[in-house]
Amino acid sequence: MTDASMQAELSTRGAESPWWRSAVVYQVYIRSFADGDGDGVGDIAGLRSRLPYLAALGVDAVWINPWYPSPMKDAGYDVSDFRAIEPVFGTLADAEAMIAEAHGLGIRVLLDLVPNHVSDQHRWFQQALAAAPGSSARARFIFRDGRGPTGDEPPNDWVSRFGGAAWTRVTETDGRRGQWYLHLFTPEQPDLDWNDQTVQADFEETMHFWFERGVDGFRIDVAHGLVKAEGLPDLGSTVWPPDTSEPVDHPHWDRDAVHEIYRKWRSLADTYDDPRVFVAEAWVQNAERLAMYLRSDELHTAFNFDFLLAPWQADEMRASIVTSLSAHDLVGAPPTWVLSNHDTVREVSRYARPQDARPLHAFNDLLDLPVDFEVGLMRARAAALLMLALPGGAYIYQGAELGLPEVEDLPEEVLQDPTWEQSGRTERGRDGCRVPIPWSGDEPPYGFSPGGPSAAPWLPQPRSWAELTVESQTGEAASTLELYRSALSIRRELPALGDGSLRWLDAPDGVMAFARDPGFVCVVNFSGDPAPAPDGAEKLLTSGPLTGLGELPADTAGWFAC
Ligand code: GLC
Repeated sequence: MTDASMQAELSTRGAESPWWRSAVVYQVYIRSFADGDGDGVGDIAGLRSRLPYLAALGVDAVWINPWYPSPMKDAGYDVSDFRAIEPVFGTLADAEAMIAEAHGLGIRVLLDLVPNHVSDQHRWFQQALAAAPGSSARARFIFRDGRGPTGDEPPNDWVSRFGGAAWTRVTETDGRRGQWYLHLFTPEQPDLDWNDQTVQADFEETMHFWFERGVDGFRIDVAHGLVKAEGLPDLGSTVWPPDTSEPVDHPHWDRDAVHEIYRKWRSLADTYDDPRVFVAEAWVQNAERLAMYLRSDELHTAFNFDFLLAPWQADEMRASIVTSLSAHDLVGAPPTWVLSNHDTVREVSRYARPQDARPLHAFNDLLDLPVDFEVGLMRARAAALLMLALPGGAYIYQGAELGLPEVEDLPEEVLQDPTWEQSGRTERGRDGCRVPIPWSGDEPPYGFSPGGPSAAPWLPQPRSWAELTVESQTGEAASTLELYRSALSIRRELPALGDGSLRWLDAPDGVMAFARDPGFVCVVNFSGDPAPAPDGAEKLLTSGPLTGLGELPADTAGWFAC
């Protein structure tokens, strides 16, 4: 099949409503998905070999975390060349073959675009270091003189997301202590200046490069960060996310001018016959601010992190859904639901903790809270059915379909997330959700790497994962993998699911119930008591067994046909 005819086949599937309005997208964290060459790190060869698994799972698309050349100071989010492939992951030819094979299986491909910063090894930054203050090479970045009589103090009080100051001072070519450059993440990830025309033009070029290779769209990393306030004013007491509902003027997050960039990108994506799409990673103040990224001439979708962070409580979850639906409605965009990703604690482990203690976002938030993994898994399964029944699209982070928990006992010496060192070894960071996938067998590497002599996986897999492999869950009706497979297959069949709207139904306290037309009801029981199934409804799928009386037990969700 030619690439053109594959594209045609993909497009017709969503003839009535564009495919992305309902898509279930599987997040491939490539270094941990499947290792084809036995070096202990996932790669494109591994991904290619597992595409049939993804097709059988029933996803519409994959989003692949950065696979570009990178010194890996932040797991590939420090990109040194946007138009090539990191050798650890394979070659450009491998990438092209992967895209064609995915399309052949009916799976779209989204890549990760990282526009806020580059690697300090990127040729632009190397040129900037070699150039003088005020040069055009420096204008691509945010270089400033320091404060204080000798310029010894950073230009302002901004802090890095990973801890410490957001500024690093360079040594000029003549050996003198020189200017400072901004990095909202690690010092090896200098921020770009989006006022610079060459930066803008180069990213458009990169998008064309991948679109021409058949890529269907991009996830936009740190989409809310590209524009910095004129004059780079101090943060002062401004916190993010804001602790107020009043509008907040933050000097580098979610500034209004960022939308101009996305309008240009949208018009570029729309020049393709099969228009290409974007999903924004934007950590913003509220659903209204998020919806601004989704106005009809901007981005297509954006992750709904408020839903991800909502505690497992009927009121909180419902409030998050209601707010999100109405904000998205105003701009005519579909919401995009997500329960976890490579930056957040896996949902099994979040929901295994008491839900009213504090927000559970980072690994350290879990510490010292009592834990019940059985409950966590029940809730994660119920949450999956809830998410997949809501109007719009959804993202599944690799391993969620296996019910994987966060790995909480990684030894300190294996931790690789820059958060660990940059926080002075106080924040353990995100490695616990990035452990390689268990595919088969009874012991590590659980089929992650090929048989024969292979290096150990780049992060160690727990012994307890023998029971969670794809192999051991396949064909087991009660397994989380089969639950996901069933849910995705029902979702494909039922016209009620995917894009559209919902109707809330009356339900007892602690129970959420809603209908999707035609003929579908979802009930989620967050309470401690059994909840009734809808009268006269036919059970399609439940996240756990019903009681003897046909009721939904605590922490269980059900799909019904009425
Ligand atoms: C995004 C990525 C995260 C990365 C950061 C810096 O939040 O998801 O993994 O560390 O951007 O690029």
